[in-house]
Amino acid sequence: VLRAISPQDLAGQRVLVTLGPTREPWDGVRFWSNPSSGIMGACMAMAAHLRGADVTVVAGPVDLVFPSGITVIPTQTALEMHAACLDLWPLMDIGCATAAVADFRPEPHGPGKFKKSGATSLHIDFVPNPDILKSLGDSKRADQRLIGFAAETCDPRDEAARKLKAKGLDLIAANDVSRHGSGFRTPTNEMYVLDAAGRAESWPLLPKTEVAWRLWDHLLLD
Ligand code: CTP
Ligand code: CA
Repeated sequence: VLRAISPQDLAGQRVLVTLGPTREPWDGVRFWSNPSSGIMGACMAMAAHLRGADVTVVAGPVDLVFPSGITVIPTQTALEMHAACLDLWPLMDIGCATAAVADFRPEPHGPGKFKKSGATSLHIDFVPNPDILKSLGDSKRADQRLIGFAAETCDPRDEAARKLKAKGLDLIAANDVSRHGSGFRTPTNEMYVLDAAGRAESWPLLPKTEVAWRLWDHLLLD
């Protein structure tokens, strides 16, 4: 019903959305992760679905349900998310990366449970994970468009501009996650939005549903 009363301005567009955290195992019972809820990505996916897009979600471990019209591919680690996205990307028109991917993963200790056995400290080595969004940007065709996000703990404007260019994006939405009401596990976000044409906007604190709707509006400007 909602789809019937929404503008169908994304009809026929195949949209890939990454969302949620990634979970990087260390031993048989422990992992490295972050508190991402996947809400921003779910809002992007739902808004695109309502506007007529054919949406595929590549999800890290999240507690979210989607309407049956959205395809969901569950993943755990950044390597799994990366592989799933690279497979899908050639079939897509638009990519949207909201996932809070772990930049590094612990060097695995092994499949069994690590036993403390009298140790007084613990050192874990980390190795870099692939940058999923940059991989999509590097292999982006002229007819594909890519939206990224940036989470900062300072004024996000410089980093937004740097990441937009470095990852080959058409549009980036950046926020200062240390500000009240913005970032992880909140229903709202205060976004600085920059596109490849140099248009920059600072949006007030808005529900993530509204941020998502406006981001699709912005992408469709040209
Ligand atoms: N991203 C990704 N894969 C990664 C890291 C980030 O796809 N391994 C994507 C995120 O989904 C987001 C964008 O890249 O859309 C920016 O993520 P962010 O963590 O803000 O930036 P990084 O490039 O990882 O740099 P840093 O964490 O050092 O700020
Ligand atoms: Ca990062």
